[in-house]
This record gives sequence, structure tokens and C-alpha cells, in this order.
Amino acid sequence: MSGFASEIREGTPESDDARSPESSRVVDPARENDEQIVEAALRPKRLADFPGQPRVRDQLDLVLRAARQRGTAPDHILLSGPPGLGKTTLAMIVAAELEQPIRVTSGPAIQHAGDLAAILSSLAEHEVLFLDEIHRMSRAAEEMLYLAMEDFRVDIIVGKGPGATAIPLELPPFTVVGATTRDGLLPAPLRDRFGFTGRLDFYDPADLARILRRSAGLLAVQIDDDAVVEIAGRSRGTPRIANRLLRRVRDWAQVHGDGRIDRGAAAAALDLFDVDPVGLDRLDRAVLDALCRKYGGGPVGITTLAVAVGEEPDTVETVAEPYLVRQGFLERTARGRTALRAAWTHLGLIPPHTAIGQDVLPFDGVATRFE
Ligand SMILES: Nc1ncnc2c1ncn2[C@@H]1O[C@H](COP(=O)(O)OP(=O)(O)OP(=O)(O)O)[C@@H](O)[C@H]1O
Ligand SMILES: [Mg+2]
Repeated sequence: MSGFASEIREGTPESDDARSPESSRVVDPARENDEQIVEAALRPKRLADFPGQPRVRDQLDLVLRAARQRGTAPDHILLSGPPGLGKTTLAMIVAAELEQPIRVTSGPAIQHAGDLAAILSSLAEHEVLFLDEIHRMSRAAEEMLYLAMEDFRVDIIVGKGPGATAIPLELPPFTVVGATTRDGLLPAPLRDRFGFTGRLDFYDPADLARILRRSAGLLAVQIDDDAVVEIAGRSRGTPRIANRLLRRVRDWAQVHGDGRIDRGAAAAALDLFDVDPVGLDRLDRAVLDALCRKYGGGPVGITTLAVAVGEEPDTVETVAEPYLVRQGFLERTARGRTALRAAWTHLGLIPPHTAIGQDVLPFDGVATRFE
């Protein structure tokens, strides 16, 4: 990520690890990652400690409990949703609840089918295979994965050209946990092989407040209730952002005060880091600004919009857009992206009479639309 690669949106330690040359590694879910210890330490380790996402949590609880009772590996699990909502955390939790080791890798790390064959053929019975960014796997690897997920078998190709032969290799039962920020990009045959799909949505401020209180406890910082509310309301519905903002506010309170976080400290630190009162950051505002000021509210294509803000289309689409859509600032239409009324008013502009949507944005609600 360039340009707006702010403190709040740096890459995750997991995805960096997953792209390391060895392409996969065994992680004991009960132990902390050695890098980014703080972020890892804040990860809930069991389903019961995981605040928010009640529906996905209950569904997952049922799937895992039933499999445990039967003594079998559960169906393959797909987790989808915008960055920072807890997909990796839940994958680790799946392994912890099943009391099985977890092998971590990611789509971009699997360049060749052979990379995947090596991983699959070394899996232990009932092991969890976490495939992060599963939508970015190569086609050949994807096809191998279909067979492995459905029939627990891989065909190892020996030799080259017309003399090449496929030697089938039986695999012990295992569970794939796939994570993706773009489930629309997953080919249907792959999607169909997951017995359960958990769709993560943005967290409401009450859940973010619980997450922040828990994190403050783990970081041993004292925080006032109204400061929790301030940070929760400005975290874009995203636990990763909430935890990062908490750390920046902690820095502020330590340097400018006695370390205790009150509302004033929270507001001052959040302003310093360009987080506005409804939680939009620089990239969000740049997108809205380009859309309204440069393109008259749209419709404008995603590629044009991305160029205007100096970002990759994929970043605008997966990182900025979902929240802007959810909060009623922006609409995706067949002809491109359109600004809703709230986008104009948030930027202090007068909306054109053609703009639709609500004028004043409810803080944590979904804007209702009228035409
Ligand atoms: N429900 C939750 N409760 C508490 N903390 C959470 C929760 N969900 C996520 N987090 C925190 O947010 C951080 C990001 O979560 P995670 O890495 O699981 O997100 P992700 O969905 O995998 O994101 P990405 O798509 O970028 O990989 C974690 O370090 C964790 O501490
Ligand atoms: Mg992740």
C-alpha cells in the first residue's frame, strides 16, 4: 500500500509471514507470534472471548462442537469480510477449539501447484490448513485444492511431457480455513467446497467498546468510559483499527499526561492521526473528495477514482469502499461509484439536487435511502 499507508492500515503480520519463502509454517495457536507481540497478544484465543459477530460465532460454535463430538474434522470453513475484522483471529480460534495444530499459508505464497502439493502431503490427520487471501491462489493450485478438499487426494505428477504420469496420493482428513477480503473473486467450484461460510461485518460501537476495554486491560492502561466511546465511534467498525488507535491514544496520554486516557487525550490523539469524528481517515476522505469535487459526485469508474487518489483500485475497493458504502456515503452502481448526500455534507459541500440518501449521517447506523 502506498500513499495513504498510514499507521492505521499497515499490513498484517500474518500475511507478511505467510509470504515468507518457506511458504507455510506450523503455528501453535496457543502461543503468541514473536513479531508484533502486542497485536498478537490482543487476539482473542477462544470463541468465548471473541466479542462481536454473534451470528458467525454461533454458527461456528455449532459446526466445531458437532465435529468435536463426532471426533471428525469439520467441514471446510470460509471466512470473508473487509480487512481487520477478525478472519485470521477466527482461523486461529478454529484450531484452538479443535485442539489441533494449524498450518498457515496464503494464496500469493502458492505460486505453483507443487507448492500446495508439498503442504497438503505433509498435513497431519485433522490438522487445520489456513489459506489466507485464498482468492489470490494460482489456477493450477486451485484445481489441486478442489480435489484435495473434496476427495482428500492429490495427484502428484511425475515426469514431463507425454511420459508424465499422475500418481494419486491419499490424504488424511483435514480442514481448510480460507480467508478472503473478496469472496466475489472466488471461482464458484472453490466456493462450493466450503461447507460453511462466515461473513464478517463491521462491528457496532458497543462491541468495539468491549474490545477496547479488553485490550486496555491487557495493555494495563487506565481508560475512562467516555474515552472508550470516543475511540469506538472513530474506529471504522474495525477491531484492528480500534486497537491501533488505542495504542496511539496511549502514546499521547503517556507523553502529554499521566498515562491515564480521558476523552480529551483520545480526541487530541485521534485528531493528530487524521481520524475524523465519524472515523473516516485520509484515504476515505480522499476518495469522497475526488468523487465529489473532481467528478461532480459520479458515476465514476473504480480505476479512475483510484488513480485520482493515488492508490491501487484493489485497495480502494477492499479497504476504503466497504465502510463508505456501509455508512451511506457512497453507492456502487453498474455505471460506477456515486456520492450520496452524506458524502457532500460531510465534506461541507452543498449536495446537488440529484444526490440521494440521507443528509445527516447517523453515527453508527446504516443510512436509509430515499429517492
Ligand atoms: N472480535 C475481536 N475481538 C477482539 N479483537 C479482535 C477481534 N477481531 C479482530 N481483533 C483484533 O484485530 C486484529 C485484526 O484481526 P485479524 O488479523 O483477525 O483480521 P483479518 O480479518 O484477518 O484482517 P486481514 O483481512 O487484514 O487479514 C487482531 O490483531 C485482533 O487483535
Ligand atoms: Mg488476516
